[in-house]
Amino acid sequence: MSETPKNAEILARFGHDRDNLMPILHEINNTRGFISELDMQEIACHLNISATDVYGTATFYSYLNTEPKGKYVVRLCKSLSCDMAGKEAVAAALEAAAGCTFGNNSNDGRFTLEYGNCMGWCDQGPAMLVNQNVHTHLTPATAKDILSQLK
Ligand code: FES
Repeated sequence: MSETPKNAEILARFGHDRDNLMPILHEINNTRGFISELDMQEIACHLNISATDVYGTATFYSYLNTEPKGKYVVRLCKSLSCDMAGKEAVAAALEAAAGCTFGNNSNDGRFTLEYGNCMGWCDQGPAMLVNQNVHTHLTPATAKDILSQLK
């Protein structure tokens, strides 16, 4: 099993220009699953910008995590078209399958359930993302199946 790279190793791959902020945030988020306060302070030092600036950027984008998340982050669309297409029943099935409610992580660390805004698949709702993978035309049964296949 490979070891998770330390911040110094990640930051060494990027220059000190502020334009590197988003690539660094992506790299740490994708490597560790979230960006901690210590990460933000070290990024700020590397780029010579304020930690507040880093925090503001990291918290602006919903796909960047600033708290520990499950191995699989499930984002169910909560916007109008998906809501009208049966989002509530799918949400209930996801909660039962994951063993946690929306806004929380499952105790086994596998899942985080979150609501998200429109993802652009309004005509194929209800829709959700599981990490980077899109699932559309969800029913309670297909939502449960999708989660049951994730180890
Ligand atoms: S309303 Fe759900 S993807 Fe657009």
